[in-house]
Amino acid sequence: MDFTRKDFPMLNSDIIYFDNGATTFKPDSVIQAISDYYSNYCANAHRGDYDISYKVDLEYEGARDAVKEFINAASRDEIIFTSGATEGLNMIADGFFKNILEINDEIIISDSEHASNVLPWFRLAKTNGCIIKKIPLDKDYKVTIDALKSVITPQTKVISLAQVTNVIGDIRPIKEICEFAHQLGIFVVVDGSQSVPHMKVNVQDLDCDFLVFSGHKMCGPTGIGILYGQKELLEEMIPINLGGGMNESFDTIDSVMLKSLPHRLEAGTPNIAGAIGLKKAIEYLNNLKMDNIHKYEQNLRKYMIDRLIKIPHVDIINLNSESGIITINVDGIFSQDVAYYLNKYNICVRAGNHCAKILKQSIGVKNTLRISLYFYNTYEEIDNFIELISDKEKILKEMI
Ligand code: ALA
Repeated sequence: MDFTRKDFPMLNSDIIYFDNGATTFKPDSVIQAISDYYSNYCANAHRGDYDISYKVDLEYEGARDAVKEFINAASRDEIIFTSGATEGLNMIADGFFKNILEINDEIIISDSEHASNVLPWFRLAKTNGCIIKKIPLDKDYKVTIDALKSVITPQTKVISLAQVTNVIGDIRPIKEICEFAHQLGIFVVVDGSQSVPHMKVNVQDLDCDFLVFSGHKMCGPTGIGILYGQKELLEEMIPINLGGGMNESFDTIDSVMLKSLPHRLEAGTPNIAGAIGLKKAIEYLNNLKMDNIHKYEQNLRKYMIDRLIKIPHVDIINLNSESGIITINVDGIFSQDVAYYLNKYNICVRAGNHCAKILKQSIGVKNTLRISLYFYNTYEEIDNFIELISDKEKILKEMI
């Protein structure tokens, strides 16, 4: 792949960063673009009649176009800027499904969803009297179409799944799920937080109804994310936030006119710097090509798994997954203690339940150690990690 680690200021040290599922490092181009906005044309969007404000509009709306192309949406009106995937999922639950789900309607999720794809649905189920059903996971903790079919009833209204889960790292057959669901008039919501940064995602090809993701997990800044929705569905979405930038006019309580999409769903001053940074991140990823990123991460994964499998005291939780997420436990040692030990050698991993708190119901363990790879990780970094994790005596001696 055509990039240099020097593009990333955070990689100009001996840190080994294996926590890319949590957030990713940012290339200079992203950092510079944000700094350029604040230093050279700092103005609000869609509000000013002066040059630097026009430039902001061009950059902000240009970022929307870049996202549209990146996920191959049919229209730029289908791209809504949010603060992240979490806000997107809450908007979908509260702004769309809250208005159409009725008592005893069923919402389908799975045990391996992240909190953001569980809690908004739990609340909605309570408010609207709906039922949450979970797709049983197979022996590799994956979702199969047959397992999905086993929980579908005439009351099923929505299926909400991560395309790649944040602990198991399995890639779900979203296209097939959408095809099946749509034949029955069931909506499909996709959490793309762990997929969009790592593989080509084409929303028209998937034919999902909604997809969300976060900029900071794909080399972009924190606080910016995307809600994609098919246009006719977004037209029906009730804005959770009302305020400036999303209304056309108002005088009295009965004369409020809202703007059309996409601005109708973006109340208040948007995260302009975030959108500008996200556009640069997309340019960076496009330059590397998403297919190359995906392939490289799969090769890294295989390299790591081939070595981990030979270590008797390492239990690999997601041996047969397909993404750059590798989840393990060291026999008899609390995952957080292993993370502390690795930290002494400048290796960053995540330990705990990773916000996937109902996953324990399927995998039987509450806490795990997660290595989440990205394209800037190397085989040498993996060798380093393997050497450290291989020595159980050393872990026990140095873990606290
Ligand atoms: N969802 C992020 C993770 O999996 C924070 O680490």
